[in-house]
Amino acid sequence: PASSRLALRGTTLRFAGNPFDMPPEEALITDSDGVVVIEEGHITAVGSYRAIGADLPRDMPVIDHRSQLIGPGFIDAHVHYPQLGVIASYGEQLLTWLERYVFPEERRFAEQAYAARIASSFLDQLLDHGTTTAAVYCTVHPESADAFFEESQKRNTRMIAGKVLMDRNAPDYLRDSAREGYDQSRDLIARWHGHGRQLYAVTPRFAPTSTEEQLELAGALLDTAPDLFMQTHLLETRREAEWVASLFPQRSGYLDVYDHARLVRPRSIFGHAVHVSEQDLTRCAHAGCTLAHCPTSNAFLGSGAFRIFEALRRDRPVHVALGTDIGGGNSLSMLRVMNDAYCAAQAHDTTLHPVQAYWLATAGAAQALGLQGVIGELEPGREADLCVLDPFATPLMAQRAQRAEKTSDLLFALSMLGDERAIAATYVMGRRHERTASA
Ligand code: GUN
Ligand code: ZN
Repeated sequence: PASSRLALRGTTLRFAGNPFDMPPEEALITDSDGVVVIEEGHITAVGSYRAIGADLPRDMPVIDHRSQLIGPGFIDAHVHYPQLGVIASYGEQLLTWLERYVFPEERRFAEQAYAARIASSFLDQLLDHGTTTAAVYCTVHPESADAFFEESQKRNTRMIAGKVLMDRNAPDYLRDSAREGYDQSRDLIARWHGHGRQLYAVTPRFAPTSTEEQLELAGALLDTAPDLFMQTHLLETRREAEWVASLFPQRSGYLDVYDHARLVRPRSIFGHAVHVSEQDLTRCAHAGCTLAHCPTSNAFLGSGAFRIFEALRRDRPVHVALGTDIGGGNSLSMLRVMNDAYCAAQAHDTTLHPVQAYWLATAGAAQALGLQGVIGELEPGREADLCVLDPFATPLMAQRAQRAEKTSDLLFALSMLGDERAIAATYVMGRRHERTASA
């Protein structure tokens, strides 16, 4: 369509490499008068306006984003769309919070019309927040996954999602059986995985709510189609870890429960991992799986502070991406998650550089999820999923941005002070997303 043939002019943000492997300042390449050319939904050129602006086709619209930062769309590596309605629920930690707030809300997703309404609102708000790809938990109801993928397909967003598997230690109204869960997942994979931009994640909720049989069938599901994802929770709180130890006395630890079922692999995403051991990290580095750092949720639920620099240790680096974990997290904004990741690093006397945080929310996540070359970077050939940031979005931000001497400092100010007001525009395959009006 004509609308996806356009150019964006502004400050372009590109990566020269992994900012955990080189000086972070050198890992960010900025051009204060850059241009991104988009044709048929893909980025076809990125360069300075002076060099390539004059050669653009005369009829190509050039969108003026000068004074703003043009970069890849954010990637949220761990989020529960059905929990949008119980965001900011008071007074509990993980296990009691699940029982008191989450499970009763997830029950409502048995009804596909309700699921579709929440999925639609969730996706619109994600895009308002500059997030163009997410790894999303649905509920145990296959209808909740169909509803989500249908809404994602309508918007042409690249989403990773799956029906939750849960065959014990949950209310009856939220349980499947090992066999049912397998069959329903297999049907959803056939319907959605690789359909347009949709990708499927086999989704056992966490070890306590699946029998060993269900976990093994989850492992078997991963062999039924190429490039499937797996997502679950790991070592979020101490109480949860004790529960897992009592449920699986024959296993050497929480990660080993998943490993035994062949769930620890590339494209496997483990949410939280706050209480991982050195042995766990060594195993994850070897397996090539991803840990989704969810600092906003970890702070909200009082779960602890993930040791990101331990996970990324250069002699055995583990893939790390960032997640909002709605509704354990109380914001849809990846800028807010970058803020809380900085604070979690501070709690362990380490410093997360703004270029590192930005990379984790974009290119680093794409790499961790095996989607490098597809999304996550402002480079020719990538799908044109973009997020344009405005460092001057509010009076306070403008005041702070005026003092910034370099782009990395603007990114830091954006992450400390910004939210969806700082998202100037979001593009999905080159099409501009229309901001949601409040309901
Ligand atoms: N562990 C198992 N289920 C959940 C969930 O829905 N949210 C969070 N934060 N942790 C979980
Ligand atoms: Zn979660």
